[in-house]
Amino acid sequence: MKTIGVLTSGGDAPGMNAAIRAVVRNGIYNNCKVYGIEQGYEGLINARLKEMTLSSVADIIHRGGTFLRTARSEEFRTENGLKKAKNVLDVFGIEGLVVIGGDGSIAGAQKLNEIGITAIGVPGTIDNDLEYTDHSIGFDTAINTVVEAISKIRDTSSSHGRVNIVEVMGRHCGDIALYCGLAGGAESIILPEIPNSVDSVCQKIIRGKNRGKLHSLILMAEGAGSAVEIAKEIEEKTSMETRATILGHIQRGGNPTAFDRILASKLGAKAVDLILEGKKGLTVGMKCNEVVAIEIEKALAMKKKLDMETYDLAGILSI
Ligand code: F6P
Repeated sequence: MKTIGVLTSGGDAPGMNAAIRAVVRNGIYNNCKVYGIEQGYEGLINARLKEMTLSSVADIIHRGGTFLRTARSEEFRTENGLKKAKNVLDVFGIEGLVVIGGDGSIAGAQKLNEIGITAIGVPGTIDNDLEYTDHSIGFDTAINTVVEAISKIRDTSSSHGRVNIVEVMGRHCGDIALYCGLAGGAESIILPEIPNSVDSVCQKIIRGKNRGKLHSLILMAEGAGSAVEIAKEIEEKTSMETRATILGHIQRGGNPTAFDRILASKLGAKAVDLILEGKKGLTVGMKCNEVVAIEIEKALAMKKKLDMETYDLAGILSI
């Protein structure tokens, strides 16, 4: 009988519960003892773990957040923290660990692999900033949340004839802004990857207004600047009343979509299969609808590319 562990780390993402459930259920199905580790690497260092049963993960597939809770651990980044984590894993006889989280969390899994612990990464972040997988768990739910919010903002934007700028999450990766900009019919999309001058955004707003457009919706990623500042600049330059909305953590909550639940179930189960096959140093993902497993080092070295086709299309359709 193998003993495995599972934790969620970094920013939470809808679908993490479905991934934990898949790890626990596939583990137990394969006669493993499964420990759930609370509060990510912080909880691992402090031995906050409990054995999971089939019913520990009952009634969670549809719930947002992570019932194991999460944290961003500074101590785990230190040599001493890493050593403490290894000691806990050794004491409990954990032979394989599944780490569900974003790039920082998966990099943490690699640190464990380097000191002889088998750790497998599962991408869980709303940011969708990992190049090796087409989608990370939580992204689909987040973009649906944003699209719902901007549809409401569009209503009031039209009523008042205003410009509304909506800031969404994404420090380095503009995927949320990009795909929601396309789905929400935004006039302009401002991303960290592409310098887009406020003047060109203003030109588009004025052209639209002259054509009789009632509203103007602009989507921007947090990494591209401050919506409040840009709103002021737009108002000065266009003389149109402009409002800024920062959607914030609303994007990280809510029931996961069917897409995220399915993705999480497939990836969580695959991570367990890999541990049982004796594989290490890998992270799982989904490419062209196929579950893939790739070396963590390779996966994290891939620079996330912006989907230029989608960006250009959004530009054409919002002309
Ligand atoms: O990494 C996910 C993310 O949601 C980013 O998009 C965002 O900038 C950040 O987390 C916010 O994190 P915190 O939980 O520290 O507010």
